[in-house]
Amino acid sequence: MKWYFAAPLTSENVTLKRIIVGRKKLVLIKYQEEYFALNAYCPHAGADLSGGWCKDGKIICPFHRYAYDIKTGRGDPGQNDYVDTYPTEVRDDGVYVGLQSFWDIFDSKL
Ligand code: FES
Repeated sequence: MKWYFAAPLTSENVTLKRIIVGRKKLVLIKYQEEYFALNAYCPHAGADLSGGWCKDGKIICPFHRYAYDIKTGRGDPGQNDYVDTYPTEVRDDGVYVGLQSFWDIFDSKL
């Protein structure tokens, strides 16, 4: 796994930030003192999830309000979909996102 710098640390409680790693567009979320990284592409109809918001441990899509668990990426019951999630690591200089392989940095969806 290769780790990529994503963002500086923040003291805010809840934040959503669009980040780009290679050609992959991700949304970095700080929620209840933890950082999460998900693909920014909504599998329902392609909205940018970084324009959404967090509620009860889920990211809510700004287009049609589908909800995805920020830890697992699973959609709410009945949605039958998910978004890819990526590990995060907090270091002294900021938050890093881990990608498994060279191909993980490419993304043709957005
Ligand atoms: S595009 Fe995200 S819920 Fe429809």
